[in-house]
Amino acid sequence: MRFRALSAAIALSAVFLAGTVDAKPIMIKFSHVVAENTPKGQMANKFKQLVEERLAGKVKVEVFPSSQLFGDNKVLEAMLLGDVQMAAPSLSKFKRYTKKLQLFDLPFLFKDIAAVDRFQRSAAGQKLLDSVKKKGLVGLGYLHNGMKQLSASKPLLVPADASGLKFRIMSSDVLAAQFEAINANPLKKPFSEVFTLLQTKAIDGQENSWSNIYSKKFFEVQPFITETNHGDLDYLVVTSKSFWDGLPADIRATVKKSLDEAIAFGNRVAAKKAVSDRQKIIDSGRTKVLSLTAAQRALWVAAMKPVWKKFEGQIGKDLIDAAYASNK
Ligand code: LMR
Repeated sequence: MRFRALSAAIALSAVFLAGTVDAKPIMIKFSHVVAENTPKGQMANKFKQLVEERLAGKVKVEVFPSSQLFGDNKVLEAMLLGDVQMAAPSLSKFKRYTKKLQLFDLPFLFKDIAAVDRFQRSAAGQKLLDSVKKKGLVGLGYLHNGMKQLSASKPLLVPADASGLKFRIMSSDVLAAQFEAINANPLKKPFSEVFTLLQTKAIDGQENSWSNIYSKKFFEVQPFITETNHGDLDYLVVTSKSFWDGLPADIRATVKKSLDEAIAFGNRVAAKKAVSDRQKIIDSGRTKVLSLTAAQRALWVAAMKPVWKKFEGQIGKDLIDAAYASNK
């Protein structure tokens, strides 16, 4: 009798232990390179909040901002190795995974974020989410940041002003071609190095959204910013196929729903910051924000637009046409 009671107790504690082992939450490490006070930083934090509310005890999200865990040059490799589960690199950083997303880097393709949004919601835009699938990644959704501006150590009003200057770019061949088209020197460097490169004058300028220029204080080390709105800075939220497919279906659905809501929230933050961070930069008095006349702008368009033709073969003319049509 005593023996029976003992074995029952052992069996029960085994069940209990197994239960506790099963109950260990699924960890989602979300790595990104920007400050928390940005559209992507806010989106990631909102995602954590929603997931942990809805899947309490089942899923935990750890967000690593400001390149604390990985820079964008390493994060996708790390994801395929299972060292990180989610990230949202800019669309300019996927060239090893697909050539199609180079579309978003074409200079002067989209007139504003509303046009980018229309294109991303279209069938052609949605199809592009799958362009990274063959390499083991799952595109879960797009997130906006904003249109890019040019900052520099001197005033840039016409393309010739940029001639011979060194600009930091993201790891995109389209962006390299864009700067080469105006006889400038592009340098592919990680986001985490940009401030120091500018501060030490190792480079002369860079291109980024208002929110990145503000949150990483680039405006404090760049005396001029030209409001060019020449390109789009958007993100692809990604995970690995093996992680995503391995999630129980009900959990996967709740994670996806939470992400969609976090992205919608992040897009609202992006729209507000494109206005408020621009204003804060102007109000700081640390830099001069220059605007272009229509004639000056036309010169930048004329100089940079030939880049489209160069990448037409890799991206596809149909896709470029569809994206351009979203401006209407
Ligand atoms: C950059 O490297 O300039 C941006 O991609 C950073 C970011 O994630 O917004």
